[in-house]
Amino acid sequence: MNITIEKMNRSHISEIAEIERECFSSPWSENALSEELDNPNARFFAAVAEGKTVGYVGVHSVFGENYIDNIAVTSLYRKKGIATALLKFLEATARDEGDLFISLEVRKSNEKAIRLYEKLGYKRVGERKRFYTMPTEDAVIMTKELKK
Ligand code: COA
Repeated sequence: MNITIEKMNRSHISEIAEIERECFSSPWSENALSEELDNPNARFFAAVAEGKTVGYVGVHSVFGENYIDNIAVTSLYRKKGIATALLKFLEATARDEGDLFISLEVRKSNEKAIRLYEKLGYKRVGERKRFYTMPTEDAVIMTKELKK
């Protein structure tokens, strides 16, 4: 399967909002996603396969620090390396910019996402108690240093 990673543009927004609704209890709306198109600190990338948007990653980047807001792949396209491709693309972009690190929070129970990040070299660096709602849950903070 051919996957392309594209900088998010208006044509991706409705399908990304659909992926958000499928994957998260507090999904980002189309409006919230559209606002990121004009945000100079945002790096949002879409994964496109078979003519549709099947995954995305959204990051906020300030002074060389990258914070992942969300990453998701629609269920029919999971376990095909799409999240890996998105994260590798993000990392290459961050390295090109000379950035310091990429960091994220993940629900403590989300073992498959934690495995994904560990496989790509992210380390557990801490926890945030009761970070998530619906349901309430602690977050694990995972970070990949880029300068080492
Ligand atoms: N069970 C166990 N490990 C899994 C897994 C699963 N169902 N899915 C992914 N992984 C881990 C494995 O280590 C996998 O490597 P492998 O295929 O060699 O075993 C690695 O992640 C890479 O998988 P990949 O195919 O690139 O991931 P994906 O495209 O399926 O996307 C998620 C992974 C987590 C983004 C996807 O399951 C998803 O969208 N989940 C719902 C949203 C979510 O939880 N986002 C994370 C928020 S922090």
